[in-house]
Amino acid sequence: MNIAVILAGGSGYRLGDDIPKQFLKVAGKQVLEHTIDVFEGCAAIDEICVVSKPDYVAHVEELVVRNQYKKVKKILNGGKDRYESSLAAINAYTDDETNLIFHDAVRPLVSEHIIESCIKALQQFNAVDVAVKTTDTIVSVTPDECIDFIPNRSSLRNGQTPQCFKRGIIKKAYDLALADPNFATTDDCGTVRRYLPEEPIYVVAGENSNMKLTYIEDLFLLDKLFQLRTTSGNQKCLSPEAITGLQNKVLVIFGGSYGIGGEILKIAQGYNAHVYSFSRSQNNCDVSVNTNVREALRQVAEKEGRIDIVVNTAGILVKEALSSMSQTSIQNSLNVNLLGVINVAREAFPYLRKTRGSLLFYTSSSYTRGRMMYSIYSATKAAIVNFVQAIAEEWYGFGIRINCINPERTKTPMRIQNFGNEPEGTLLPAEDVAIVSLNTVFSTSTGEVIDVRRKK
Ligand code: CTP
Repeated sequence: MNIAVILAGGSGYRLGDDIPKQFLKVAGKQVLEHTIDVFEGCAAIDEICVVSKPDYVAHVEELVVRNQYKKVKKILNGGKDRYESSLAAINAYTDDETNLIFHDAVRPLVSEHIIESCIKALQQFNAVDVAVKTTDTIVSVTPDECIDFIPNRSSLRNGQTPQCFKRGIIKKAYDLALADPNFATTDDCGTVRRYLPEEPIYVVAGENSNMKLTYIEDLFLLDKLFQLRTTSGNQKCLSPEAITGLQNKVLVIFGGSYGIGGEILKIAQGYNAHVYSFSRSQNNCDVSVNTNVREALRQVAEKEGRIDIVVNTAGILVKEALSSMSQTSIQNSLNVNLLGVINVAREAFPYLRKTRGSLLFYTSSSYTRGRMMYSIYSATKAAIVNFVQAIAEEWYGFGIRINCINPERTKTPMRIQNFGNEPEGTLLPAEDVAIVSLNTVFSTSTGEVIDVRRKK
């Protein structure tokens, strides 16, 4: 039996927020939720025990219910020190052969690979740690801050979690530790090392991305790492979640007549989704007119009884200097690119709320830095990112996921109209963007910007 113990009993003093860091949001969810997601999704884990800061137990309960986590069987009160939180879990179980896999709630990027490697190592060892090679030179200093000695870096590691034990071993180590009047707080492996020195502790190779959220700056880094994890690089085909998810789902695409929308339509139909496309050219549906969007969705809902996914690829790019653009052209770009997104989100809300569905929009790399000759386009694309992040939070409680895709230059009719023929191989095929789009729709992400780059 493999039980994951998620330690979420700390107060995050070093980060300095009023809310303990495990409950802060990053990439659209609370850090603790990301962490539980990994263990919930890992087939080797049988059960999850969350050790919470006592005044947050109700909060954790709410989060477990809302996410419909099936493996979380215990939510325990933690202690003042980390080891007391570990002890709460050790004492909550009785079978000494159980594997307890302790993990910091604030390491949300732990991979299934690390967890599986730990469990494998537990077949041979009673205690297992996770660590990465140290990159910095470590210096040991004297009390007056002078170098005492410099240990050989090749044998040094930075400890991470999980730290895993047969319950009997960690219990025995703590029984001895608690009877020792000189016991000083350490991590769980440190306790085993000190009180059961004969017990080998195997070290599994960690990953640099399995970082711990400690300081406020780490939040920005974590956010970027989450983004990288969902980036296209390795998404050459539909995820298993997308393949099963698409079956008989009702998908509405605004702008599905060609380009990225058209590719999504083709793929989704191939997996038995019920797909409906609306656009100005196909059926006179203009996303900038909210009643057009409302009517389109109403028709689909009337026929199908539900709407699960709404994708809006409609957008226009006018490549022109601001001073020469007409007021009508500016207004038109704002209307289609930004008001259209807002209309689609607002009109889709009542349907997606019922199905706990998914909404997808598109930005462009110009969202981080505006480009000359397409200032209005750049500005609307930046606004979409901001809108997606805000609405992801507003609709989080309704179970609606909302993300936006940031494709590199993509081979679409819109691109060809504005840039002519560009060398083969420099543009991203629209189909690749469509695959990442569908994978995103069926992922647990929300509030994220997913970059799609050309496969190298
Ligand atoms: N932890 C715990 N119980 C405690 C202290 C820590 O369960 N009494 C957990 C934290 O919630 C975190 C992990 O142990 O997931 C790693 O600890 P650390 O980064 O030191 O967290 P905090 O103690 O919250 O941080 P700080 O020292 O800045 O207050």
